[in-house]
Amino acid sequence: MTSNCRGALASDPVPPDWANMELETTWADELRLNRPGGLYRFFRSLLSCPKQVQLDRSHPLIRTIPKYALQEFHNLPNGNYSRRISRGYITGFDKAMLGCMTQQRKIMAESVGDARAVLDIGTGGGKLAWALHQAGAEEVWGVDVSPYLLQHAAQDYPQVQFYQACAESLPFSNQRFDAVTACFLFHEMPPKYIRQALSEVKRVLRPGGRLLVAEPSARQLAPVCWKRLWQKQAWRHIYFKVMALRMHEPFINAWHELDKQALFYEAGFDLESHSDAIPINYYSLKKRPSAHGGVVG
Ligand SMILES: C[S@@+](CC[C@H](N)C(=O)[O-])C[C@H]1O[C@@H](n2cnc3c(N)ncnc32)[C@H](O)[C@@H]1O
Repeated sequence: MTSNCRGALASDPVPPDWANMELETTWADELRLNRPGGLYRFFRSLLSCPKQVQLDRSHPLIRTIPKYALQEFHNLPNGNYSRRISRGYITGFDKAMLGCMTQQRKIMAESVGDARAVLDIGTGGGKLAWALHQAGAEEVWGVDVSPYLLQHAAQDYPQVQFYQACAESLPFSNQRFDAVTACFLFHEMPPKYIRQALSEVKRVLRPGGRLLVAEPSARQLAPVCWKRLWQKQAWRHIYFKVMALRMHEPFINAWHELDKQALFYEAGFDLESHSDAIPINYYSLKKRPSAHGGVVG
């Protein structure tokens, strides 16, 4: 045991000093949103064709980010890679989801039960990691590829350990965690890397450990029943459908096409429960014991 944080193991990575981490100022940070020219550039970026993000790849925290993640997801100017826009994204995402994310994170935090050490992969601004801490998990780690999001997360939730890592290459020892959560992560990854990430999750989970996964539901893309327009549900459906069709989500169709139950099963997880509603598809999974009585991975 070392003392880099409460409950940390000698094999754990040491979280950087996020408060004093110098991150590149990107073009999105330089947009003057209080001037007409800046606002025009901002909205033009939101409405135009998304691009690869612009970053200095010589920075050690940028060099390791996979190329597929360096895109302007959700049409955000420079994607998740700017101080200001990524800060706005953390609050804007929850508002755009009409409060569903807050509710979902609460469900996930309560579902990890008495897990002591929990890892949240694709943690973004750290809200689920924080919910896990508040629900009683003693040791919570959050990993993400965007150092900009992690810097905000570390500032907002100092009780959580934030570290930059890809879900497909986790810097933790085998069977390190009692539970792993992934909220709106896998639909942002190409299927090949999702499989690698699941294999890593299986490796770092203890025997019988739980994996909780929330992702956008494909149901929001279904045809809207126009005869039901007098119902609030129909308007919600239209809202989420327009948003799903408008947002730049380069891998979401591939995610929707995957047979999730087969994907999780082949990765070594048994399905405990599943719910699918607009806008969230939610899976509670358990690491499956191996055929010879031990545990897979
Ligand atoms: C839609 S956001 C969700 C953030 C957070 N889980 C939440 O619920 O607010 C997806 C996050 O996944 C991160 N991400 C994408 N690919 C990743 C990967 N391969 N490994 C780790 N994080 C990744 C992005 O940087 C982003 O922060």
